[in-house]
Amino acid sequence: MQNGRKIRLIDLIICLSDATDFIDPVVVDHHKQVAYIAYSIAAELGLAPKEQKDLILAGSLHDIGAFSLKERKDALAFELKNPHGHARNGYALLRLFEPLSRVAAIVRFHHVPWDHGAGREFRGVEVPFFSHVIHLSDRIAVLVDKKREILGQAKKICDAIQKKSGSKFCPELVDAFQNVATREFFWLDIASPSIQTILSQRLRSANIGIISRDMLGFSELFSRIIDFKSPFTATHSSGVAASAEFLAGKIGFSRKDRTAMRIAGYMHDLGKLAVPVEILDKPAHLSRREYNVVRHHTFYTYRILEPIVPLHTITAWAAYHHERLDGTGYPFHLKKKDLPLGSQVMAVADVFTALTEDRPYRAGMKQSGAVKILDDMGLRSALNGEIVSLLRRHYEEIDALRMHAQANARIRYRDIDTARKEDDMTDAAV
Ligand SMILES: [Fe+2]
Ligand SMILES: [Fe+2]
Ligand SMILES: [Fe+2]
Repeated sequence: MQNGRKIRLIDLIICLSDATDFIDPVVVDHHKQVAYIAYSIAAELGLAPKEQKDLILAGSLHDIGAFSLKERKDALAFELKNPHGHARNGYALLRLFEPLSRVAAIVRFHHVPWDHGAGREFRGVEVPFFSHVIHLSDRIAVLVDKKREILGQAKKICDAIQKKSGSKFCPELVDAFQNVATREFFWLDIASPSIQTILSQRLRSANIGIISRDMLGFSELFSRIIDFKSPFTATHSSGVAASAEFLAGKIGFSRKDRTAMRIAGYMHDLGKLAVPVEILDKPAHLSRREYNVVRHHTFYTYRILEPIVPLHTITAWAAYHHERLDGTGYPFHLKKKDLPLGSQVMAVADVFTALTEDRPYRAGMKQSGAVKILDDMGLRSALNGEIVSLLRRHYEEIDALRMHAQANARIRYRDIDTARKEDDMTDAAV
């Protein structure tokens, strides 16, 4: 593991926003479009680079708390009802990672209307001015019809926004947008497939080491966003990360590589962000189509992380967790000789956690049952038998670690869930 290398925080954030936008073709690039529009308005207003950066990050993550496909699709309507739940979820998740606390505060109020200035506050709390920038940018983005030529839409979009100046949107921001909108390149950039490169170039992003406290914190944030989508798997990645790190230690991985293993564990199911919660949460049997959609997730974990070259090893450890040593796994059908040891550890940690964790509809499997299944998979060379026997030898220890990690994650999940329910009640009452 080359641990001295650094990656740009913005590139990781784009991974998150991409994963959530892959949930459906209608929202592909939505986060990046909003980030780009917000950045353009910020530049027009002459805001400082640091402020432009906060807006790009907030734009890239603003709908991260919309867990279901329905919520994502509902948010595309220009006039929408009860939009604050997902904004609050996003805030609650993002603020878990200190370097994004300012961004979290912006995301929290990104659907508050300007209401002739009354929108400077919402339910007694001060609304950051930048939330209004994201609100306007988001509403501009939803007015774009992706199927039609973009320049021909500009006037209609400008008129629709102008009509709501003062009531929905802050007039100062609408004026800035109207100036930006006179330049064709602004519209062409929004519709461009290179929007990611454009954004990435605009931003002097912080670099973080691939094995660093920030990377660990950020990958843990990934795990929360992935897991909290569904009450069924609300603590899964935390369990996998703890188990994988422990097994790596027993195999003799260095301290840095054990940390890398934990990071990979937090991110292994990243592609699940692209799977609608309606399918992840389905209590009944999945149809063939739904089952296939679930199987997309490791592919997306791989393809989304792949462009970040310094993360190469971590990506392989994370994304190959459904590959099997005998070539029967998916999506690459790699065999033992092509699977790094870290990926083989991850596969064992993933199966172990999936079997033993409690789910709302069933209690986790006891030791004897779990060991039997793992042994069996080891014997038929689906999993690495040596790693399985290591797990068997240290079963109590690893199980205690897994439970501890999942109990901690559960506390966070409950906090967010309770706050969300309270907010839903307030939304329903107003
Ligand atoms: Fe939103
Ligand atoms: Fe998975
Ligand atoms: Fe998993």
